[in-house]
Amino acid sequence: MTTAAAQLTAATAQRHLLLNMTANGSLGEQGEDLLVVQRGEGPYVDDADGNRYIDGLSGLYCCQLGYSYGPEFAEAAERQLRELCYSPLWTGSAHPSAIELAERLSRIAPVDIEHTFFASGGAEAVETAWKITRRYHALRGEPGRTKVIARRGAYHGLTVGALSLTDDPGLTEPYGPPAIDTRFVSNTNRLGLAPEFADDEVYTAWLLAELEAAILTEGPETVAMFIAEPVQNRGGCITPPMGYWQGLRALADRYGFLLVADEVITGFGRIGEWFGGDRYGARPDMVTVAKGITSGYAPLGATLVGTKVTEVINRPGAVLNHGYTFAGHPLSTAIALRNLDIMERDRILDNVRALEGDLAKRMAALKDLPIVADVRGTGFFYSCELAGDLDDGGFSDRARAELIGDLIPRRLREAGLLARVYDRSAPLVQIAPPLISDRAVLDRIAAIIAGTLAEASTRI
Ligand SMILES: Cc1ncc(COP(=O)(O)O)c(C=O)c1O
Repeated sequence: MTTAAAQLTAATAQRHLLLNMTANGSLGEQGEDLLVVQRGEGPYVDDADGNRYIDGLSGLYCCQLGYSYGPEFAEAAERQLRELCYSPLWTGSAHPSAIELAERLSRIAPVDIEHTFFASGGAEAVETAWKITRRYHALRGEPGRTKVIARRGAYHGLTVGALSLTDDPGLTEPYGPPAIDTRFVSNTNRLGLAPEFADDEVYTAWLLAELEAAILTEGPETVAMFIAEPVQNRGGCITPPMGYWQGLRALADRYGFLLVADEVITGFGRIGEWFGGDRYGARPDMVTVAKGITSGYAPLGATLVGTKVTEVINRPGAVLNHGYTFAGHPLSTAIALRNLDIMERDRILDNVRALEGDLAKRMAALKDLPIVADVRGTGFFYSCELAGDLDDGGFSDRARAELIGDLIPRRLREAGLLARVYDRSAPLVQIAPPLISDRAVLDRIAAIIAGTLAEASTRI
């Protein structure tokens, strides 16, 4: 039942609020199709009508701690705001909580990473990595390194620069030619590939040979940077084969480009490590983070920069002409510090490590359902790729509209689960629950998905 107050809120939103990545004109005149999330507790959120859901997506992959740490963060925020509300990290000025956070990050960062450049979110962090890359090459006398190699289907943010690193024409074409000259190579999704690629060694060798061929085709002296997520979100929690990140490091060293790990989603415990790349032996030159760095209690992004790079860009007199007014805002850095304290104190990574095996089993069992083509993921990060009614596994327009557009998202929500039902890169049901979720919550998530996909299976 919809309350009058909730109805009014939704209708006001429809009149005044433009949502991100939304057909704003199709939400209904009174905002009927809008989910207004009013409050949160633990791994749950309540909508404005008082319906409770498991937040199976941690907001937007950011609420690592769920929703019950408000008082502790409020105390950290109040203390910071009483002392200092704002100070820029600009032209030789800084403030203590940004300094302390940069030092804390260097302790958990991948090997050889000591410095941090703050931003307000993920796309800004990615663009920072690009600008630092350009400075690095120019200062070393290689200004001709102007190209990025990224991976097909990947997403690195929607600002004009970050958008260049995405090959989805639906996202890029409305905005004209890309700002950054980018080439794309395969991601590490082996669904539908020949059986020999089930072998990690064979698959890794193939992927690295493809990347090397792209570098040689472009001319190694033109390639500035390679960017990839340790586990690619878009396309559905795509994990890498063993040896892949070591091979990327070797190619970066051989051909002189910088290796950037985009950990905006995989960072801060999502897959049971501080950085997802830790699990795969990644040794990137830079790491981009956002989202989980504050568990969503404040906005913050950051680019973690390795010593190989800072030794060049920090040469005496070299100016880093780049910045954002709110980069490393004291409120956000104070919240991020408290987030690290809480994650350590409450052993959040241990919770993921203790429960991920069970979640993996529950998710793998979904493969038996006719509508499930593949289950991928690790940690608290899983996707089911869906198989449709057509002979090649695709969806007819009717089945797509009926199942992905309606039945599956509706049933998940009716059962009390917010999960991502996605049809842009591949048809998917995806989860990334808060890292404080216990076994019962994870079991419930898996059971709701199983029930929903079992019903959907009868319709194809
Ligand atoms: C891997 C990755 N990089 C970058 C971004 C952009 O982050 P933001 O939305 O904070 O700009 C995202 C956002 O989801 C992301 O998933």
